Amino acid sequence: MDLQGATALVTGTNRGLGHHFAIELLRRGAKVYATARRPELVDIPGAEVLRVDITDQGSVDAAVAAAGDVDVLINNAAFTAGGNLMTGDLAAIRMAMDSNYYGTLAMIRGFAPVLARNGGGAILNVLSAVAWQTVDGNTAYAAAKSAQWGLTNAARVELAGQGTLVAALVPGLIATQTLLEYAQNAGVALPESVMNDPAELARFALDGLEAGEIEILDRLGVAAKATLSGPPIAFNLAAAASA
Ligand SMILES: NC(=O)c1ccc[n+]([C@@H]2O[C@H](COP(=O)([O-])OP(=O)(O)OC[C@H]3O[C@@H](n4cnc5c(N)ncnc54)[C@H](OP(=O)(O)O)[C@@H]3O)[C@@H](O)[C@H]2O)c1
Repeated sequence: MDLQGATALVTGTNRGLGHHFAIELLRRGAKVYATARRPELVDIPGAEVLRVDITDQGSVDAAVAAAGDVDVLINNAAFTAGGNLMTGDLAAIRMAMDSNYYGTLAMIRGFAPVLARNGGGAILNVLSAVAWQTVDGNTAYAAAKSAQWGLTNAARVELAGQGTLVAALVPGLIATQTLLEYAQNAGVALPESVMNDPAELARFALDGLEAGEIEILDRLGVAAKATLSGPPIAFNLAAAASA
C-alpha cells in the first residue's frame, strides 16, 4: 500500500518508537493522528493530536468517532515491563497483558469497521522477538507479546475478507529511553550490533508495510522465529549478539 495520501493513526507517540512512526508517516505524505495518554507531551508538527489510552474503552471509542478517515492503524503503544510471571507484581503483569493484548484488541475492534469503510487499509502491530523467545526477568511482557502475536494472526484471518492487510513488526532491541534505562538499572550491556535506531526502524517497518509484508523482522526477529522449529529456548543477549 502507498502511504502517500493515507490517513494513519499511531498509538503512543509521545516518546520512543511511536514518535518516530508519526514523523516518518508525515514525511511520506500521510495525514497523521498522533495519539498518547498525555497528548500535552506530543510534539510533532503537522500531526493531529488525540488523547488515547488503549486500555480505556471510552477513550478508544472517542478516537474511533474522531478519526473516521483512518486507513492505517499503527498499534505501537505498550507497557513493556511486568517482571517475571512467578515473582512479579500481579498488577504489573496484568498491565502488560492489558496494554499489549487487550489494548491492541480494543483498537483493532474499534477501527476495523473504519478501515472497511475506507477501502480496507492496513494494521501494523508492534510485537517483539520475545514473543517467540521468552526472556528471563520480563517473562510477563514476553507472554503478553506472544498473545499479541496470536491476536495479530487472528485479526489477519478475520479481516482478510474486508481487504485489510494485518502486519507485524517483530524487532529485537530498540534504542529507546525505556530500553536504555532498563539496561542501565539491570547492569546489562547492550551490544551495538543488534540495537535498532528507532527512526531507522520506523522507516524499515513502513517500507515493509508499503511492500505488503505481513511479518517485518529485524536480525533478532529472524533469529527468534528460527527457534520455533526446535525446543523452546530463552533469549540470551550474549548469544544473540554473537550469532
Ligand atoms: N524498546 C525495545 O527494545 C523494544 C523491542 C521490541 C519491541 N518493542 C515494542 O515497541 C513498541 C514501542 O516501544 P518503545 O521502546 O518505544 O516504548 P516506550 O518508549 O516505553 O513508549 C511506550 C509508549 O506506549 C505508551 N503507552 C503505554 N501504555 C499505554 C496505554 N495504555 N495507552 C496508550 N499509550 C500507552 C507510552 O505512553 P506513556 O508515556 O503515557 O507511558 C509510550 O508513549 C512497544 O510495543 C514495545 O513492546 C520495543
